[in-house]
Amino acid sequence: MSILVVGGAGYIGSHTVRALLDRGEDVLVLDDLSEGHRAAVPASVPLLEIDLLDRAATLAALSEHKPEAVFHFAASCYVGESVTDPGKYFRNNFVATLNLLDGMVQGGSKRFIFSSTCATYGEPPSLPITEDMPKEPVNPYGRTKLFCEQAFADYEVAHGIQSVSLRYFNAAGAHPSGELGEDHEPETHLIPLVLQVALGQREDIKIFGSDYDTPDGTCIRDYIHIVDLAEAHILGLEGLRGGRISRAAFNLGNEEGHSVRQVIDMARKVTGHAIPAVETERRAGDPPRLVGSSALAREVLGWKPRYGDLLSILETAWKWHREHPRGYGENTAKNG
Ligand SMILES: NC(=O)c1ccc[n+]([C@@H]2O[C@H](COP(=O)([O-])OP(=O)(O)OC[C@H]3O[C@@H](n4cnc5c(N)ncnc54)[C@H](O)[C@@H]3O)[C@@H](O)[C@H]2O)c1
Repeated sequence: MSILVVGGAGYIGSHTVRALLDRGEDVLVLDDLSEGHRAAVPASVPLLEIDLLDRAATLAALSEHKPEAVFHFAASCYVGESVTDPGKYFRNNFVATLNLLDGMVQGGSKRFIFSSTCATYGEPPSLPITEDMPKEPVNPYGRTKLFCEQAFADYEVAHGIQSVSLRYFNAAGAHPSGELGEDHEPETHLIPLVLQVALGQREDIKIFGSDYDTPDGTCIRDYIHIVDLAEAHILGLEGLRGGRISRAAFNLGNEEGHSVRQVIDMARKVTGHAIPAVETERRAGDPPRLVGSSALAREVLGWKPRYGDLLSILETAWKWHREHPRGYGENTAKNG
């Protein structure tokens, strides 16, 4: 039986497809390519080009393929846009997930691995963030993910669908082969933006706030390598297959925070480029520090990050961006 990777043409989904194929799993991708890239899906993997909001098509696909497990990465992911257009986020992140779950009910699929986020916690009372802390999201994006997590408990009771929610901190880096990487439009993540400056595609990198109560005044975030993230999904699947976990949620981060300035400095070393930085106003809703504890994932899933240091994250990201200055676009350095 196959594994269905929903959102498998996107950044994290495509790396997880690669990790599943490396283990000899039979994989199918469902993606509407609204944000993802056909070129990120290997030619050997069937791509079902379906919008999850097309309920009839989603139900039909799940009924036809009856996947053993579903990995669900598809979502709208821009926090700022979720504030200005919450309806889009509740539809695409929550209603779409219900369509997928209902399709699983029809097709008899019982294992579900979900991309959740540290945004479900909002502003945590202390650090590092542990799974038992209050979930009080401060934006619609975080709320839509929390709604999904809450629905899983009810789908387990009613339909026996067992789920694992993985609450990621900041996904970063690229596949060490240089064949897969991050390509978002618009790009909002710090590391690709910094590397776009090194490539001459941007003049400078903006630092939003340099007067936070942190050692160098800039915000601190917990970066997790994309390959380690993909590995955690496989461990989640194994946990469900072995009946060891269900209706579980795990943080995935490195338990170490890096400030915006530290990331820029490391990028300067890795790229050899001066990367000019411009300090500007704080952005609304940016907590000064977000660092998670992944102790539970280590203990229960046996997760051991292999690329835990910022250098590996930046080196792999730089390899991808240098070799693919236009991402998955046609005119890459390699093929253009
Ligand atoms: N990137 C991060 O740092 C981060 C952090 C925390 C959580 N997450 C979560 O991880 C998941 C993956 O993030 P990503 O960075 O890979 O995003 P991405 O945009 O690169 O990938 C999402 C994929 O889902 C597809 N998609 C979106 N809506 C769809 C729909 N209605 N029907 C079918 N396909 C649809 C897109 O085309 C895209 O290929 C998201 O759920 C996101 O909320 C990401």
